Amino acid sequence: MDDEFLLLNPGPVPMSPDAREAMSEPMVSHRSAAFEAVYERAQDGLEYVFEQSSLDGERTASGGEALILNGTATMGMEAAVANLVDADDELVAVVNGKFGRRFKRIAERHCTVTAVEFEWGAPIDVDAVADAVDDETAVVTVVHNETSTGLLNPVAEIGEIAADHDARFVVDGVTSIGGDAFRIDDWEVDIAITDGQKALAAPPGVAALYVADGVDAHVDGEAAPFYEDLDWHSRKASQHQTPFTSAVPLFRGLAVAVEEIEAEGMPDRIARHRRQSTAFREAMWAMGLESFPELNDATAYSNTLTAIELPEGARDDDSEAFFDAVADRGVSISGGQAHLGGEIFRVSNMGNITDEQLLRGIRTIGEAFDAVGVDVAVPDAVETAREALDR
Ligand SMILES: Cc1ncc(COP(=O)(O)O)c(C=O)c1O
Repeated sequence: MDDEFLLLNPGPVPMSPDAREAMSEPMVSHRSAAFEAVYERAQDGLEYVFEQSSLDGERTASGGEALILNGTATMGMEAAVANLVDADDELVAVVNGKFGRRFKRIAERHCTVTAVEFEWGAPIDVDAVADAVDDETAVVTVVHNETSTGLLNPVAEIGEIAADHDARFVVDGVTSIGGDAFRIDDWEVDIAITDGQKALAAPPGVAALYVADGVDAHVDGEAAPFYEDLDWHSRKASQHQTPFTSAVPLFRGLAVAVEEIEAEGMPDRIARHRRQSTAFREAMWAMGLESFPELNDATAYSNTLTAIELPEGARDDDSEAFFDAVADRGVSISGGQAHLGGEIFRVSNMGNITDEQLLRGIRTIGEAFDAVGVDVAVPDAVETAREALDR
């Protein structure tokens, strides 16, 4: 196992052998009964994930529909926004990282946007969101788990604000859904978005939207985008098809991946992600490194990916040598995005990462720091992680 390439990027994440194998089965028509069976399995599995993402196994959504679309998460974000607004609508976008900003940029193409912005990695001040949302607000957008910074945002509090003003609440759960708790009803979520390649451990190129019951995800049939018309997707979903050609192999990989999640069970899966991310974080602290995101009372460290400040000697221009040293050891991690390049590194524990793989990731990162002349206590870090995993 140790000689294998280990993908610890925050997506795409490693896929199981069965999910990979399903993708190489002989092609079928997207209008065949064989494909409809695949769509149904993927939809059932996704509805399990969307509706039962709690640590105690409690149901988190009383009703809604999971729709599967060709395309990545960005398409899913645009589909959600563009189906809910008309050009003269007002949308509040909460931004504290790259993907919050992406929601804002998407929405600016479709309606009037007020952005409530914070530094990337800084916690959201919920009062500032409350000041920005009013009865004219049609939609509020937020990213639950901000992948660019490793911060878990206060979705419950923001959902309450949106609901108080009767605004639709659209949540990007791309790196949380399938790995962490996600409570559609309690958080007043109207549309939740995820995609295959993150916490679902499915292939990239296929996105899932959960449209809660009672949400008219279709303004008037003319404003909705043609390809991502959610009303049309919903009508076709009742026949276990999509309006256009489905990316058949990707749907097959997704069907197996969500069935594997259901077999593990969301409570165990959430607990595993929390245990593993805690172990990883504590190992980094034991190396003398610091977490990148700042917390407040309403915010937490992500349970699915960890963002760590690069130390002197492996920062800015020196960071390339560090990332090369990690890659030379057969492990792939990610750097910071946009202006955070050279300042942080990010490591995922999404999907089906084993404890041994996590420990290998920690060891490799430590060895890579040593290789570029940054002195870190690798054995202490590994021991710290082991203890945290055994807790
Ligand atoms: C939280 C979040 N939202 C949206 C996206 C966009 O995904 P893509 O670039 O694959 O469309 C990502 C990708 O990393 C993400 O992490």
